[in-house]
Amino acid sequence: MSHETIRNANHLIGKVELPADKSVAHRAAIFAAIAEGDSEIVNYPDSDDPQSTLHCLRQLGVSIVETDRGVTVSGVGLDGLKAPDGPLDCGNSGTTMRLLAGVLAGQPFDSELVGDSSLSRRPMTRIAEPLRKMGGRVHLTDGLPPIRIEASKARLQPIEYELPVASAQVKSAVLLAGLYAEGETVVVESTPSRDHTERMLQLETFTLGSARRITATGGKRIAARTWAVPKDFSAAAFFLAAGAAVEKSHITLRAVGVNPTRSGALDILTAMGGRITVSRERQFGGEPIADLHVQTSSLTSVRIDGPIIPNLIDEIPVLAVVATAAAGETEIRDAAELRVKESDRIAIMVENLRRMGADIDEHPDGMTVRGGTKLKGTVVESHGDHRVAMALAVAGLLAEGETRIDGAEAASVSFPGFWDELRKLAGQ
Ligand code: S3P
Repeated sequence: MSHETIRNANHLIGKVELPADKSVAHRAAIFAAIAEGDSEIVNYPDSDDPQSTLHCLRQLGVSIVETDRGVTVSGVGLDGLKAPDGPLDCGNSGTTMRLLAGVLAGQPFDSELVGDSSLSRRPMTRIAEPLRKMGGRVHLTDGLPPIRIEASKARLQPIEYELPVASAQVKSAVLLAGLYAEGETVVVESTPSRDHTERMLQLETFTLGSARRITATGGKRIAARTWAVPKDFSAAAFFLAAGAAVEKSHITLRAVGVNPTRSGALDILTAMGGRITVSRERQFGGEPIADLHVQTSSLTSVRIDGPIIPNLIDEIPVLAVVATAAAGETEIRDAAELRVKESDRIAIMVENLRRMGADIDEHPDGMTVRGGTKLKGTVVESHGDHRVAMALAVAGLLAEGETRIDGAEAASVSFPGFWDELRKLAGQ
């Protein structure tokens, strides 16, 4: 386990080189693998999670070659995947495991999905249940990985499935299995989660109020094409938060994905008084992107709850850090899902921020942060969670003295260059 030491920052100035979006990258790789013919994925990230997806797809017989611009995937068509020669190692990546389970449920061969110690503690009944309803023979141990999937004897049956949790991974697993079903599979979500799968596969979506019905048609062929991965909004969020909260800061972030189902933190930081400008809005690979600029702001608290939660779920650790620098009380609710992420992000953020002197209460579904207390540098611990490590780095910039972040290497799961970029801006 390695650590990084971050000192109190008196400025953050410059441009940040962001990694490409891992949510879009996993999907591009999986869709390209089951498409007909060769696809290029421009800007495929070298972070650990998207690499886990490539590793699993190669084990399923898909040839993937690195190019100057990204990767070329030789798609094998919906029915061309091969039986793997051993367990498929998803590493730390829940998206890899859950989306691939959707694909594998309809294959005529046995497979097994395994993960690291964090992924091995994450709930999988949420995907096993709908996949079993479709006829998938999916086996877990006490609701947890490894996921063993027996060869499918016939085509899967289509279902209409109302999501019990707002989860893009569950939604995507069911829609992917739907490609292997006889007829039309419908997923209904009452609280919209990130919609990359629907956009990228151009699935028919019907919106009524805030509810959405998404349809996947069995046997629908995916054409090979060029896929392009925008810069990761979730990576940008650490710098938007840090730039707003640290004195004398000006940070520019270029070509960042601003899909509204992902960028709820932009709305929240703006509502908190964050001076963020969004410019050159345009499309890139079917996703909206923009250039973002943030500068030091006078921040006030807000309430973060309700339907915006799935649109900023990954950004809550860093929003909790910003809340320590905002005037007033920030209450975060309806976010119990945070307890089943790469770590229990409610318990771990509360514990670490308390160690740094924050005035913070833990709730079953969130936390309350009373701002205006100056954080103090100390030793904090990522618990192997990339977003916790990076959120604590932002806390370190705000804290008096030095903050030592143990388990700092976890950042490479989504952002291998994070520490270098942060030091460059802070001149540390
Ligand atoms: C993701 C969906 C979210 C998110 C995760 C990536 C995706 O998880 O937290 O980082 O790419 O579909 P859930 O689907 O479990 O909410």
